Amino acid sequence: MATPLADVRRAALRHESGTPLIAFHDLSKRYELPHGRVVLDGVSGRIEPGEFLIVVGRSGSGKSTLLNLLGGLDRPSSGHVSVDGRSLGALSDRELTLLRRRRIGFIFQAYNLISTLTVSENLLLPLELNGLAVGNTVAKWLERVGLTGMEEAYPDQLSGGEQQRVAVARALVHEPDLILADEPTGNLDLHHATRVVALLDELCRSSGKTLVMATHSREVAGKADRMLTIREGRLEEVRE
Ligand SMILES: Nc1ncnc2c1ncn2[C@@H]1O[C@H](COP(=O)(O)OP(=O)(O)O)[C@@H](O)[C@H]1O
Ligand SMILES: [Mg+2]
Repeated sequence: MATPLADVRRAALRHESGTPLIAFHDLSKRYELPHGRVVLDGVSGRIEPGEFLIVVGRSGSGKSTLLNLLGGLDRPSSGHVSVDGRSLGALSDRELTLLRRRRIGFIFQAYNLISTLTVSENLLLPLELNGLAVGNTVAKWLERVGLTGMEEAYPDQLSGGEQQRVAVARALVHEPDLILADEPTGNLDLHHATRVVALLDELCRSSGKTLVMATHSREVAGKADRMLTIREGRLEEVRE
């Protein structure tokens, strides 16, 4: 973690871009129910294009909350998030939906696969919504996550780990610039976890995708450019 090489890479990314892919400022999130808890308390930061950032923190610390705010899935109680210099707070719901659909790939902690669609159909959806050519894309991504042959299965016919890998493929098929991955290896055995992390890392390195990954394990930390931890509503940079 935070090797001189990672520092150099990050400095180069910052220099190249000028504009961060994501900037957030004084961001707070309070859930009114059930007991008015402040989960994020005035956090700020920036994420450069092409960066691989890990967010750690114990369960319940606010990792999913932060990812949801960064990707415009939820709105902050106060503060701002901008993606590519566009303030999410200034976008209408429709503009936000379009931005998310085109630019962002979410890997949800709870998978969020559509249970009435097959594996193939779940993967086709982001392609069709974005008007992208299908070709052999679905087969290519199923192979990448080790699920060739599962095309016609429905989510409830798959194990938790298999569903998680479908969720990974579904988040990536439309080649988004920004991948928000919420504990993408939480349900995987070591073999598949290593494979998924390697795939995400490779996408970040070779195709310039930006990857923000929440995890409560630090196993993947060595691969990231940077690691943040959430503790009592505050965000701290981890240097190891
Ligand atoms: N929709 C919600 N309504 C009320 N409380 C929530 C909601 N989502 C999350 N929380 C609470 O916010 C805190 C942080 O949750 P979360 O962001 O899911 O943490 P993590 O992903 O780090 O486990 C937890 O105490 C959780 O119970
Ligand atoms: Mg979570």
